[in-house]
Amino acid sequence: MEKHASRIAVNSGSHQYTVEIGHGILESAGAWLSNSHSQKDGSVSIISNKKVFDLYGATVEQSLTAAGFKTSKFLMEDGEEYKNFESFLQALEFLGEKGTRRTDAVLALGGGVVGDLAGFAASVYLRGVPFLSIPTTFLSMIDASVGGKTAVNTSFGKNTVGTFHQPKGVLIDVKTLATLDERELLAGFFEAIKHGAVGGPGILTSIEGFLSDFPVNGFSGRFNNSEFVGRLEKVVFEQVAFKAEIVSGDEKEDTSRNDAKSRKILNFGHTVGHSLEKVTNYRYFKHGEAVAYGMLAAAEISKRLDILDKNSLNLLKRVVSTARTLPDARSIEIQEIINSFSSDKKLLSEELQWVLLGGIGKPKIVSSLEIPEPIIFESLQDVLHR
Ligand code: NAD
Ligand code: GLY
Repeated sequence: MEKHASRIAVNSGSHQYTVEIGHGILESAGAWLSNSHSQKDGSVSIISNKKVFDLYGATVEQSLTAAGFKTSKFLMEDGEEYKNFESFLQALEFLGEKGTRRTDAVLALGGGVVGDLAGFAASVYLRGVPFLSIPTTFLSMIDASVGGKTAVNTSFGKNTVGTFHQPKGVLIDVKTLATLDERELLAGFFEAIKHGAVGGPGILTSIEGFLSDFPVNGFSGRFNNSEFVGRLEKVVFEQVAFKAEIVSGDEKEDTSRNDAKSRKILNFGHTVGHSLEKVTNYRYFKHGEAVAYGMLAAAEISKRLDILDKNSLNLLKRVVSTARTLPDARSIEIQEIINSFSSDKKLLSEELQWVLLGGIGKPKIVSSLEIPEPIIFESLQDVLHR
């Protein structure tokens, strides 16, 4: 299959970078890094985990070495529970022990957990060193790797300590998805549906068409099919282009903005999604699955407030169900979910803001003070206890 890459420029307030998307382009990581990073040689510290490094580390290292870079690697433990201060400190100590200089680069190779932690370490080590990213999950390709948010989880919540540190470049090789677990893939597709819900019918129906032609079930066996690969690259391209547009216009999620292009719209489905994850101790749902329930709940609330029409609600429900049935949520107490909003509320401001929908592609940021609690309760009951 021919190897070519499409490019999307992200113009954030602080600087511009390019996201390269292709199939089988991991072998050209060295040339990509030389072009993205102002140094043509020097050291590259790869931050990854054992699972991903065993699959793709050798290809990346060989290509970097051939391009003149010296490489070293720090492999963190695998899992959301390791996106914490301990791993972060270990990563910093590793960079220090290797004598990493301000002109050297940190390269994340892995999913969103690796990317968020590596980006955070790169952003504070020596007050900030160049960071590049090779995302290897669908979620990290279309969402986490673009926009410069870095974070670790703390005792007071998920992603509560972090920075904005834009990458110098992002390389997406869709071929790496061939080894990804189907449930992980699906979790990423729910975030893609989220982009469609707030981004517009074109993005949403494109995802629906892709998933009905190429269900997640059996994904890994299709990488020799050029039509599948082309469509997958196109979906990733559309998704990254949408995310790039939003983060370019609102790099740091300006708290005073409430318009339809504010970065806050990317939190659609996350109010309920985060609560669902929290009340199940982050063990029952994949993040994307919790967000899928959260999107349906936010859409039901929007319908009950008479800002969303029935057809749009049904379209969103149909696309979510095209992806797959969600894990059973009938045993979760609705009141427990509502109670858990309050801790987010304290952190953000006195009033919690919801991202609701006035139509597909028409997000509306609404204060929780404007939503009667019975509407939230009934909507959650409808979505979770059907
Ligand atoms: P993840 O990083 O935990 O990866 C999921 C699993 O897939 C892991 O076990 C990982 O080792 C494995 N894996 C990764 N690539 C693989 C491959 N190609 N083949 C086989 N296995 C592979 O999960 P994720 O969904 O990528 O990321 C979730 C994280 O991203 C969360 O911490 C979330 O907060 C963060 N996130 C950040 C942003 C942002 O803007 N920074 C946006 C969305 C999500
Ligand atoms: N994933 C939401 C954001 O990047 O803002």
